This record gives sequence, structure tokens and C-alpha cells, in this order.
Amino acid sequence: MVKFCGFFALIFFIVACSSGEKSYPTEIKLVDSLTLIPQVNLIEKREGFFTIDKSAEISYSNALQNEGDFLSNLINQVSNFELKQSIQKSASSNLIELKLVDEFPAELQHGEAYRILVSNEKLQISALTPVGIMRGIQTLRQLFVDDFNGVKKRDEWHLPALKIEDKPAFEHRGLMIDVCRHFFTKNVILKYIDALAFYKMNILHLHLTEDQGWRMPIDAYPNLNKVASYRIEKDGSVYGGFYTKDELKEIVAYAKERHIVVIPEIELPGHAQAALAAYPQYSCVGSDIEVANDWGVFKEIYCAGNDSTFVFIEQILKEVMEIFPSEYIHIGGDEAPKFRWQHCAKCQARMENEGLINEHELQSYFIRRIEKFLNQHDRKLIGWDEILEGGLSPNATVQSWRGFEGGIKAAQEKHYVVMSPTSHCYLDYGLDAIDLKKVFQFNPIPIELEKEFHKYILGAECNMWTEHVPDEASLDAKVFPRAVALAEVLWANPPKDRYEDFYARLQKHYPVLKLIGINFGAEMIPVKITTHVEDEEVFIDLISGHKDLVLKYRWHCDSCGTEFKNYEKKIALNESGKLEVQAFKNGDKYGEPILQEIILHRALFSPAVYNQPLNEYYPAAGQHALTDGKLGSLNFRDGNWQGFWGKDLQVTLDLGEKQFISKITTNFVEYSNAWIMRPSRFRIYFSLDNLNWNEINKISVLPINAAVIDGISINPFVITFNTIETMYLRFEVKNYGKLPPSHEAAGQDTWLFIDEISIE
Ligand code: ACM
Ligand code: ZN
Repeated sequence: MVKFCGFFALIFFIVACSSGEKSYPTEIKLVDSLTLIPQVNLIEKREGFFTIDKSAEISYSNALQNEGDFLSNLINQVSNFELKQSIQKSASSNLIELKLVDEFPAELQHGEAYRILVSNEKLQISALTPVGIMRGIQTLRQLFVDDFNGVKKRDEWHLPALKIEDKPAFEHRGLMIDVCRHFFTKNVILKYIDALAFYKMNILHLHLTEDQGWRMPIDAYPNLNKVASYRIEKDGSVYGGFYTKDELKEIVAYAKERHIVVIPEIELPGHAQAALAAYPQYSCVGSDIEVANDWGVFKEIYCAGNDSTFVFIEQILKEVMEIFPSEYIHIGGDEAPKFRWQHCAKCQARMENEGLINEHELQSYFIRRIEKFLNQHDRKLIGWDEILEGGLSPNATVQSWRGFEGGIKAAQEKHYVVMSPTSHCYLDYGLDAIDLKKVFQFNPIPIELEKEFHKYILGAECNMWTEHVPDEASLDAKVFPRAVALAEVLWANPPKDRYEDFYARLQKHYPVLKLIGINFGAEMIPVKITTHVEDEEVFIDLISGHKDLVLKYRWHCDSCGTEFKNYEKKIALNESGKLEVQAFKNGDKYGEPILQEIILHRALFSPAVYNQPLNEYYPAAGQHALTDGKLGSLNFRDGNWQGFWGKDLQVTLDLGEKQFISKITTNFVEYSNAWIMRPSRFRIYFSLDNLNWNEINKISVLPINAAVIDGISINPFVITFNTIETMYLRFEVKNYGKLPPSHEAAGQDTWLFIDEISIE
């Protein structure tokens, strides 16, 4: 525990004047407000400087024991002296004072607001509450992120004179970590708490239970650890683990010291397969359930017709509340397929007896019952936005993840909301979907929400789901630096055009992150590869993710060499092949090389007309996405795949001129865990005038199953037929494929992901 504290302590006072000198050596540069994240509301630089040396004393009242100890420890760990403590310092210089005040001006009326005043005589942090004092201490630590040499204990330290006044824009500033899909030790969690504190975040949301693993002990139900905490992986190995109650208490206490609240999430009624493997009597089927060893959404959920299910859950929640003092208990509520309930006599009887008209109302009944229990114990319920379905329980707070809509609806119904839309807050998504700038540009208050409801938007959380995050290093690389951008948004609420200013400050934080052992990742996809036509020739453009990056590329094709070339201008596409692009920042490789397969074919840049609007999340390159020559990769979010949800798809290509063709190839993704299925049937029509259509009589349709990696495959369909002459082609995908039994969900729509229609 002390280890992390110590690292941060070093950061705190890394910049000092060299011993013995009396003048302040590196001037005002040290308090350049450029180094602060989140940016403070107000900073004024003043004349002079404050010295901390062996004559310095720290003074605080009993009410600030925690904060005083915290700051003293920071200083003592990097100094050759022990800071003297005093209740009332008599001397007129070298006083570090933490001070609770009764009044602040109107612009600082907030429990987390603080003021820092540094003069020749005194360093003072004042606030209305201990929380505000702690936020001020975190700012103090950041005033020194400019220089990282000379990490050793010193005799004296200097702080430039200044005034800072600051308070947060949003109340709820959080990060959710899924410790179930992959498990992270207590020490990793403590490291994250310290980093959250450093960036003035105040919520750690721990996702503790899942289909694939249960991560806390419940004394009344020991099988939750013996059985539910472990899964047998597909290769036969055993994966799992859990925190002991003592470890969880330590996590809570460590967070509390830093005024961070840990909100536990206990998922119900869905995402509970691990618990049901341990206690199948609380499922609808009663037996034969295993801890899941695959990702996705599973149909085994708690039986809502069985009263003993509620006894089980309430006992769990009781023990959860004993460990976690948080005002909120998160109950999940998302992605609960209703398939089992539809086929369960007990669940159907419950619906009959309670007058519930469908399974959504049964879910609502379930959540209301749990909410009542939590409210009786003076806790509040928070759940994912599916808890809106079938009617929101009376006092519930909604965490909106499927876009902003759930949050808007809840706020309009005067319920509190935490925003975590997949568009901006999902850190498990790649940088191609959500990069640093996207997070920075996030506004938790949707523009379409009427002003009177803004007060219901408490703030936001980034969600870190860990299906594809097996270890601490990959966790760090996903969370950082994007979570830092969220911290900036939620505390400082900066204008969206200040990204470059934030980016510049962030560069100075990387050495800090390195020092505390955070393996931060890249900020953005270093390059976007696009194609365009010019005078009937196709060119490739490499669009740099940032002006600081230098791009080099090479082709992998039959006639290509292996040399990297500097990218200067558009590249002519002369041959199908694979393009590899590597970015460099300050001479170092930046991010992984990007590989893009590009093919030449006769439908290149034929515009497409669709029978439905493009999906807002998966539009790819719009009208030309299917004919831009770029092939989608195994990452269905790579910006090449066009995704369509549920509805039959019809897409018409205009080839621009009459062509004789006898072969069409098109690709589909299949990934049943994410409800993406290839089509079970499609038809192709041709026309010379876009009015009269004939169906193509296929000679063969060759679905080639590409290698399946982590359950994801690309399925090229190669369709051959007798040569036809045509100017238009129409594809009708009548229905998307059905989900396999393991992911069966009654009435569940599926996704279709399609890319590149090429003709020969
Ligand atoms: C979620 O991402 N299923 C809340
Ligand atoms: Zn049931």
C-alpha cells in the first residue's frame, strides 16, 4: 500500500532547487498551469516562493487528521527530515496549513472545492470539507510534474507563490473495472485508486460478479467461491480467483483515505451464470449449469418465480453492504435474455399472480423488489439502462450505456443518471472506435435534454470490460490515457476545442504514469487509411492521427520490396496487396503497425443506395464503404465493416457503366458472442436501367470459412454465375442468421456486418 503512496510522493517533490542554493532556480516554469490535469478553474501566479525544509511545520485540526497524515507522509517520504506537526504554529514562516473554513465565495460553494494559497511564509489549502482539502492536495502533487530527474530525498523544497481556486463540474466521476472476465489483484486495484485520486476522480465501480466468475466471498454461500470463482477454460486450464473480505475492506479503506467511493456491482437477474453454477436451485432450469468459459450474453438467469431466489440475493446484498459503505449498490440489470422466464412455470405463475403483462415487467418486478430491500437498508439502487424496461423502480439511478437515450428518458422522469455511452466511454473498445479526442469531446449532458433536467445528470463513468484484457499491462494500456481525458471532462468540463491544450498537458504526465508503473497505451490510431478516385485512378491516403506523428509505409505484395518509405503524398493503387503503416513519435515507434488489405476490382467506388439509414455506430465510409477497396479485418469495429441491426438489408450498387460480369465476392463477419451472424440466405439481382430487375442464377456460392480467432470469423462468399451484362446490382439479405443455442435469446435480433462487394 505504501509503495504507491511513495511513488506519488516522489512525484510531488521531484523538482526542487539544488541543495544549498537560496534563490529559486527554475522560476515560474514549475507552476505552469499547463501541467495540471484536470485543469483548475483559476490559477494566479504571484511573486516569491515558499520553502519546505526542516524548519517547516504542518498544521491541521483533528477533523483533518486523514488529510494531514496523507500530506505529511508524501513529504516525509522524499525528504531528509520529518515534518513537524503543530496545531498552532507560532513562527511566522514555513507553515503548511490545512484549514477548514465556514465560508467560501459563491463560485466555490461546493463540498469538493478548495483554494491553495502559496506565499513566502505559508502554504495553505483551505476548503469547506475534508474532501476539498484532499482534492487540493492532489493539485499540489501535480504542480511538480514538469521534471523527473533527481528522484532522491532532499533537504529542502520550493514552491512558487500562487493562488488556485477550483471545484468540479460533475459530482460523479468514475471508472468501472470488470474484475470478473479477468481478475486483477488487490495491488492493481490500489494502484488504480491512487491514479484516480491523482486525477480527482471520486468513484471506483467494481464489477464483481459475472457469468464467467464471482469475485467476493459471501459467508452464507461458500460455493460462490468454491465453484463460482473459477471457470474451466476451453483448453482445460482453470482460471479464477477472488478477493478476501479483508482485501475488500482494505480496498475500501484505501479509497476512503483519498475520498473515493467504491461502488460494488452484483449483477442480476442476468450475467449470473457463475452464481447459478454454484447454486442452480435459483435458476429456472434447476441443474446442469457451468461457470461460463466464453464471452457474450447467456440465457441462464435468476428465476424470478422462486421466492428463495430473493432470499439468496438479499443475503448476498447484506454481506456486500457490510463491506461496502457506498450510498449506491449497483445491481447490473443489463442484458438479461427473457428466454428462460418465458419457458418457466414459476416465472409465468409470478407474472399471472402479479398481473405482469410481459417478461420486461417481470424484470421490473425483480428490480423493484431488490430496490425496496436496498432502500430499507438506506442504500440506493443503480443499474444499467435496461432497468427502464417494464418501468423504472421508484428511486433508481440509471447508468446509461446503450447510447444516451436511456439516460435522457430517465432524467426526463426525474431519476438521476450516470452516463457511460458506448460511443464515448467504453475503454474496452479500440482506439479506432474511441480515441483520446473522442473521450475529451464527450459531453455527459446530451444537447437534446431540456435544461430543467440537466441537474439529474450526475456525471459519468468509463467502463473497462475485460474479456480481451488478460493482464495488468493490457488493462493499463486500455485505461490510460483515455481515463485521464474523462477526468478532465468531468472535473473541468473544458470547451471541446481545447483538445490540443489538454494533449500538451498530458504529454507532461507520461513520466508520472511511468513512475507509478502504469503501462499507458496510445492516444489514437496513428493513421487512418482511406482511398479516393481521381481521374479514374484510385489513390490511397494516409491521414495522420496527430501532427506529432511521422508515418512510414511498405507494401506486402508479389512485386513489392520490404523497405519502409516515408509517407509524403497519396499513393497510387496499382495492385492488390497489404499495406503496412508504422507511426513514429519523437523517433520512437508509436502504436502497433497498421495492416490494411486493399484490393483492385471493377466495382471500385460504385456508389451504394440502402433501404435503411446506416447504423450510427457502424456506418464505415458511408456510401462507398462497400466498394472502397479496403477489406474489413477481424476487428469488426475497424471502420471498414458496415453493421446493420435486425432489419432485412437491401443494397443497390450503381456500376456507372455497363459491365460483363461472372463473379461476385462479398464478406461477412460472424461473432455470435456479439450477436453478429452471417446471413442465412441472400439474393442478387441485376438491371441495366435500375427499373427492371432479374435475379442472378448462381452456379455456386462458396462460403469460405476463414480461420476463427477468439470466436470471430470473416466469411467470404464467392458467387459465380454465367456471364451477364449489367449496370446495377442489388443485394437482398432476407434474414440474418440465427444465434446458436448457447446464445439463444427469445426474439433477439442479430447484426449483419458486411464489407466490400467486388466483381470480376
Ligand atoms: C454493458 O455494457 N452490458 C453494461
Ligand atoms: Zn423461472
